[in-house]
Amino acid sequence: MNSPAKQSWTPTSWRTFPISQLPPYPNNEALDSAFERLRTLPPLITSWEVEALKEKLAQVGEGKAFLLQGGDCAESFADCTSPRIVNMLKVILQMSFILVHEMSLPVVRVGRIAGQYAKPRSADQETINGSTFPTYRGDLINGFDANGETRTPDPERLIEAYSKAGLTLNFLRALLDEGFADLHHPEHWEMDFMRNNEAYREYEALVKSISKTIRFMDSVTPLPSSKAFPAMQRVELYTSHEALNLYYDAAQTRRVPNKPGWYNLSSHMVWVGNRTRQPGSAHLEYLRGIVNPIGIKVSADADPKQMIQIVRDLNPQDEPGKIVMIGRYGAGKIEAHLPEMIRVFRKEGLNVVWSVDPMHGNTFSTQSSIKTRNFEDIMSEIRSAFKVHAGEGSILGAVHLELTGDNVTECVGGSKGLAEQNLGENYASLCDPRLNYEQSLELAFLVAKEWNANYG
Ligand code: PEP
Ligand code: CO
Repeated sequence: MNSPAKQSWTPTSWRTFPISQLPPYPNNEALDSAFERLRTLPPLITSWEVEALKEKLAQVGEGKAFLLQGGDCAESFADCTSPRIVNMLKVILQMSFILVHEMSLPVVRVGRIAGQYAKPRSADQETINGSTFPTYRGDLINGFDANGETRTPDPERLIEAYSKAGLTLNFLRALLDEGFADLHHPEHWEMDFMRNNEAYREYEALVKSISKTIRFMDSVTPLPSSKAFPAMQRVELYTSHEALNLYYDAAQTRRVPNKPGWYNLSSHMVWVGNRTRQPGSAHLEYLRGIVNPIGIKVSADADPKQMIQIVRDLNPQDEPGKIVMIGRYGAGKIEAHLPEMIRVFRKEGLNVVWSVDPMHGNTFSTQSSIKTRNFEDIMSEIRSAFKVHAGEGSILGAVHLELTGDNVTECVGGSKGLAEQNLGENYASLCDPRLNYEQSLELAFLVAKEWNANYG
């Protein structure tokens, strides 16, 4: 990767590199116009937040904190609504409280949210009712409705994605600021459809235990505990998305006063997908120039030496908290492939955070062609990831999940025993199957148990 452009990175230097997963826009003038407008709009996040997240991820790398990264496979513009955002925030916060409580570790929360609008796809075309269309690539690129016009990449979507991300983030920040997360109000966490679930009883016990602790602290300090311990009142949620549509990310990549470097101010963290991380790719060229923490998806066919080269390129100073290696091997493959990856990184002495994405290596289609994942495979990959890392003397510090706060029927299994024939009841994902609310909480308890068994 010694291309001449290496010395002269700019937010758009990737444009001369081969790019996959982003079909060309048919109208260059319209693209330039949208890009220029996006470039002058105010940033969604700040450089201080990016730096704070990186410091927290450095703690994760040392085993002093745990990273929970999760959200929709693909957000859609239509789902930029109050209930969707509230439910997503609730499930992520509730999962994080389960982890904090059960593991006695700080948890860093990163949503796949406020910008997760673009999707890599395995096929360029799809046939629906005998007609062939370009595939849907997420609302940031084209539309879901199957007609030729909607499926054509439209640069105005860059602006709409920015607006929807901004609206989402604005509401999230308001909810968090106004004490939505205040631990004094566990009643905010109730969800009726959860009541008959096994995990709900564990969750209820946990809420009682947190309330008891707060009452205890209130009784030993003259101030209300939220004043004495302000951190208890306010929690943080960082944002992330796949840096796939590089026009979106590049237009929001800026310099800030009195600091070196370029910040992607559309999101605190971004990741490179499994299909766009080829050495020499436009995506890696873009990513090597930004200050933000970067996730790298790693599958069973990833060559460890190549991954080392990629990490050196993206993080030449070996900065802690900068790189999150997100393994998405599949339950049947992880134990054969992860150990070598860990050993090679250990031998090179590179500083990375290790994460497990137990979703993307475990997708399958049912006989009626519904894309799903089995909760047992998801758990099995998580168990293997903990076992392998602990066995190698390495720290698994993170999980990366596709989930929703809604009561969908997209993944089979879990303590409620969702079966293949139930998938049609409320299958709402435009892309990959997500854990529903109950499955997510159940999984949080299981992750904490595995962490305790291996590192506790
Ligand atoms: C994703 O995270 O939604 C995704 C497409 O993952 P991967 O690149 O690992 O397939
Ligand atoms: Co996905």
